[in-house]
Amino acid sequence: MRLDRFLSNFPELSRLDARLALAAGRVRVDGRPVADGRHEVREFNRIELDERLLQAGKPARYFMLYKPSGHVSATEHPEHPTVLDLLDEPDKHELHLGGRLDLTTTGLLLITNDGHWSRRLTLPGSKQPKVYYVETEDPIADECVRTFAQGLYFAYEGLTTLPAQLDILGTRAARLTLHEGRYHQVKRMFGHFRNRVVRLHRESVGPLKLDPHMQPGDYRSLTDAEVACF
Ligand code: URA
Repeated sequence: MRLDRFLSNFPELSRLDARLALAAGRVRVDGRPVADGRHEVREFNRIELDERLLQAGKPARYFMLYKPSGHVSATEHPEHPTVLDLLDEPDKHELHLGGRLDLTTTGLLLITNDGHWSRRLTLPGSKQPKVYYVETEDPIADECVRTFAQGLYFAYEGLTTLPAQLDILGTRAARLTLHEGRYHQVKRMFGHFRNRVVRLHRESVGPLKLDPHMQPGDYRSLTDAEVACF
């Protein structure tokens, strides 16, 4: 929201008062005077007018979770425990997921209360590489490498997947890098070759890797540097 619109929520402050206060540098956002009413402010900013606190600003929260198999990537579910059940945090209803993994998929999942940040992760145009370790029922055909690199046509969506990089690690194991996140994408890509994915684990999203010290079900706050990755 623009700072001038935020100030207009206080009926005792006329538009003229607000404009004068801004021009005089009496409005501070996170401790710094802001004179431009077009400045964007959010629920995370501390906003003051002279000595008056207009908004305390709530803390932005960012977590990485090592999703175990069997927890659903949703905030509520009638049948299965959710990934949020693994977090021992206050005000969990304010949190949402920055992307999803299937019920049996394990690995890196990001959780936050910052909608702008999670949108940067998940918007189709963001193209953050997502790296998966994959194990399959049958041997992986060499042909998969070229087909995945060229893109596969998904008839249901009527689109061709973005070029993906497949590194074959063993007869039935590979590392796959995607730059998008379509519904059941990895399973459908191997499904094209009639090969079933029996294990799927997300190792990283963009520059952020699953913390090697974490076990399935563990979570931790992201560092400031990790938050700034996106
Ligand atoms: N692709 C899948 O098929 N499942 C996931 O959980 C993630 C990517």
